[in-house]
Amino acid sequence: MKTTVAIIGGGVSGLMLANLLHVAGIESVILERHTRAYTEGRIRAGVLEYGTVELLRKAGVSANMDAHGLPHGGFSLLHEGGKLRIDLTALTGHGVMVYGQTEITIDLMDACAARAIPLIFEAENVALHDIDSPAPFVTYTKNGTHHRLEAAFIAGCDGFHGPSRQAIPGAEASALEKLYPFGWLGILADVPPMDHELIYADHPRGFALSSMRSATRSRYYLQVGLDEKLEDWPDARIWEELSLRLHNGAAGHITTGPALEKSIVPLRSFVCQKLQHGRLFLCGDAGHIVPPTGAKGLNLAASDVTYLFEALVSQITQGDETGLKTYETRALARIWKAERFSWSMTMLTHRFPTQSAFDRRMQQAELAYLAQSQAAQKVIAENYIGLPY
Ligand code: APR
Ligand code: PHB
Repeated sequence: MKTTVAIIGGGVSGLMLANLLHVAGIESVILERHTRAYTEGRIRAGVLEYGTVELLRKAGVSANMDAHGLPHGGFSLLHEGGKLRIDLTALTGHGVMVYGQTEITIDLMDACAARAIPLIFEAENVALHDIDSPAPFVTYTKNGTHHRLEAAFIAGCDGFHGPSRQAIPGAEASALEKLYPFGWLGILADVPPMDHELIYADHPRGFALSSMRSATRSRYYLQVGLDEKLEDWPDARIWEELSLRLHNGAAGHITTGPALEKSIVPLRSFVCQKLQHGRLFLCGDAGHIVPPTGAKGLNLAASDVTYLFEALVSQITQGDETGLKTYETRALARIWKAERFSWSMTMLTHRFPTQSAFDRRMQQAELAYLAQSQAAQKVIAENYIGLPY
């Protein structure tokens, strides 16, 4: 089989890229290791920067998001001193859209089917070949049969554990990483959220977050130790802990209900500083990971995809190689800023096991400063709604 762009990974990065290319009249094939049911069943983040919203509109896959997404003009930081609302719209002129990554994935997969974009599920043993030649190709097996996919370009959209980053010489050695001494325990439930906006809580028992997927579906998170096991967290214990951390008189009532999904994820910051080699380009989690505190994972994937899409279009339609040559530099410039924001939100709102009294005073001073300074709030707001591409 032959195509113009071979896309490895059918997560949100690969699916967005394929749909944008389709609108521009450029062919691609997506190879995804898992089944459709598995891929669309994963519960991920849910806050879209306005740039991501625009990108989905440009890709022609925004109908459900526009109908069911929840535009949010602000969010709150709950801390010892009270509840501080960051008024995104007043501070920046933009808000964000709350719409689940799970729903986006389904919308993008439906669009692939409607547009006859080849999306091959259960592609096993995906391997990249000759990426530094003008004729790279990808091999894989499906139902025991060996296949070869020839392409002009390869997009590595295969997440943190995929083979694409491994195919770039020196990629692992170029990576910089920070591991945090805690994880997030997430719960999804069909109950109305406690507030109409998101609440990030800094509490002596640890960080908590109240988020949502709709007016009737809530998503909550708790900071937990890295040694915590899901089986030690029955639903009742999670709800109890959430109300301890999210109730300080300033927040509303938590409606409880059975968990639709529960998971624990460790927090990490990771940046691979080699995002391209020959004809291979990395997008999304294949190249970087952010802790979820700033809601940047999906949005950073969207900016990578935008840069790569624009560069591919220039090369393919006008023979202009500039965009492809500068992809890594352009993408990394925005990635590092999003890494900084996600790190700073994490450092501000979480309790660290080895935190000194001085470290805690620094958090308190920063929160107090934020509460009184519009300039400081604006710094948070402009990062939260998304820095320009
Ligand atoms: N062959 C084919 N596909 C693969 C392989 C492989 N060897 N390895 C991984 N994949 C697939 C995964 O099954 C997954 O569907 O690549 C896809 C990668 O998707 P994501 O992990 O969602 O990464 P990405 O599309 O870059 O999305 C980034 O998603 O998880 C969030 O925090 C993340 O919000 C960010 C966004
Ligand atoms: C979510 O709704 O899953 C969510 C929202 C905001 C975050 C992280 C996760 O910062």
